[in-house]
Amino acid sequence: MSGIQSHSQNSPQSLLAKAEKLVRETGKGVIRGLYKYWATTYDGMLVRRLGYRAPELVAAALAERMADGEQTVLDVGCGTGLTAKALLALRQDTIDGIDFSPEMLERAREKGLYRDLVRADVTKPLPLPDASYDAAISSGLFTHGHVGSEAIPHILAAIKPSGLFGFTVYWKVWQRAGFARMLDELTASGRIEVLHHSQESHFRVLKGQQVHTLVVRVNAAAG
Ligand SMILES: C[S@@+](CC[C@H](N)C(=O)[O-])C[C@H]1O[C@@H](n2cnc3c(N)ncnc32)[C@H](O)[C@@H]1O
Repeated sequence: MSGIQSHSQNSPQSLLAKAEKLVRETGKGVIRGLYKYWATTYDGMLVRRLGYRAPELVAAALAERMADGEQTVLDVGCGTGLTAKALLALRQDTIDGIDFSPEMLERAREKGLYRDLVRADVTKPLPLPDASYDAAISSGLFTHGHVGSEAIPHILAAIKPSGLFGFTVYWKVWQRAGFARMLDELTASGRIEVLHHSQESHFRVLKGQQVHTLVVRVNAAAG
């Protein structure tokens, strides 16, 4: 990260570089530790300092394609609740959150936006009934050192046939963590149809940083 030194210590660039370095250097087993300490300052750093807007991007793309009327939605990797907040600014839905960090779940609980909050690792089968949600939403989960494409089938299993899944994928892991291939395979098998796919900056302050934003329709699992 030779660029870090050229930024002042508290510039948005420096804060993001530090966060990315931390994430790269922590193994998957200790990523929870990152959020244990980040939970209390997460909203302030990402939203107020960097203008983080991935939750708004995915909420807008999903809301545009959802049926009218209140729906049940699973917020995957819900963190402190920014994604639910963005969706509820556009629609009235019943939202459950799932995340493996107790500290992030506690911040989410304090916001009072969720019906239920579940603590679980989403790289494993979810502890939720199959086909139980009208839609799922996720921002910021599919990124450096976090969760790869292996979680997608578990999330799809929780969504009702013809339901929607809106999510962001950090552009640098799109190929590397298998998202492009996984989504091509799921499309080819008829399990999903891609309704929306865009790529744009997910920080108002750092224009070079991008995410893919997708909305897919989920078809019934074969067999
Ligand atoms: C960058 S935050 C995104 C939070 C929120 N969706 C947002 O956009 O602000 C990533 C979240 O994913 C959670 N997470 C990371 N790996 C996970 C896993 N294997 N299972 C469940 N949650 C995970 C973290 O605890 C953290 O809350």
